[in-house]
Amino acid sequence: MAGKSARLREHLLALLRDGLAPHDRLPPERSLAEEFGLSRLTVRRVLDELEQEGLVYRVRGSGTFAGEPRIAKSVELTSFTEDMRARGLRPGSSPVTRELVPAGADVGYALRLSPSEEVLRLTRVRTADGEPMCLERTHLPAALVPGGLDLDGSLYEELARRYDIVPRRAEQTINATVLGPDDAEALQVAAFSPAFLVRRTAYDDRGRPVERAESLYRGDRYAYHLTIYRT
Ligand code: GLP
Repeated sequence: MAGKSARLREHLLALLRDGLAPHDRLPPERSLAEEFGLSRLTVRRVLDELEQEGLVYRVRGSGTFAGEPRIAKSVELTSFTEDMRARGLRPGSSPVTRELVPAGADVGYALRLSPSEEVLRLTRVRTADGEPMCLERTHLPAALVPGGLDLDGSLYEELARRYDIVPRRAEQTINATVLGPDDAEALQVAAFSPAFLVRRTAYDDRGRPVERAESLYRGDRYAYHLTIYRT
């Protein structure tokens, strides 16, 4: 029995990987039960598992459908643009707002500035193939980017190109959170949808803090992937 349900799981995983596009319907429970010699209840348990893993979703009375693929976020120090390009998606930012504001206590502490020193605050809705994925609030010491930044594209590319600044190391924390109504609207999801809150302080070669960012990644579209070793 366990062997047969494991075979069904493998079969469905292969189908989700290679055979089905997001929102395609999976074969009905009845035909899976017949094909794999399993009871409907066992088929349902296998589908329950896939649903809990976010790989499929159910619509009452219609069946089971392939979910949206999640974008596995690696823990290397990468930019949003690099993450999306690596997955064959077109990165974008819309809308983008930029303001010069006093750092305040928290951002100032992270960037080693006094609270009254100016920072450039960028607020960007980051998109992949036009779809909102992440809401990002980034702060940079204004003194580091004297001419401002032209930000249709990648912040990291622009920092390297115009100011020769390359973030080399970052301290990053990831928290589970829910999106408040405004942030949810910006990401075009329902209010109080789950999200990852990623806080990053990035440092350049010389150990100077160059960025303090808070990014809200949609919980339904992201997974954090780690390769871990035991020595
Ligand atoms: C990620 C990080 C941000 C960083 C951004 C730069 O999203 N969480 O801290 O600012 O990448 O991305 P890009 O170079 O595409 O603007």
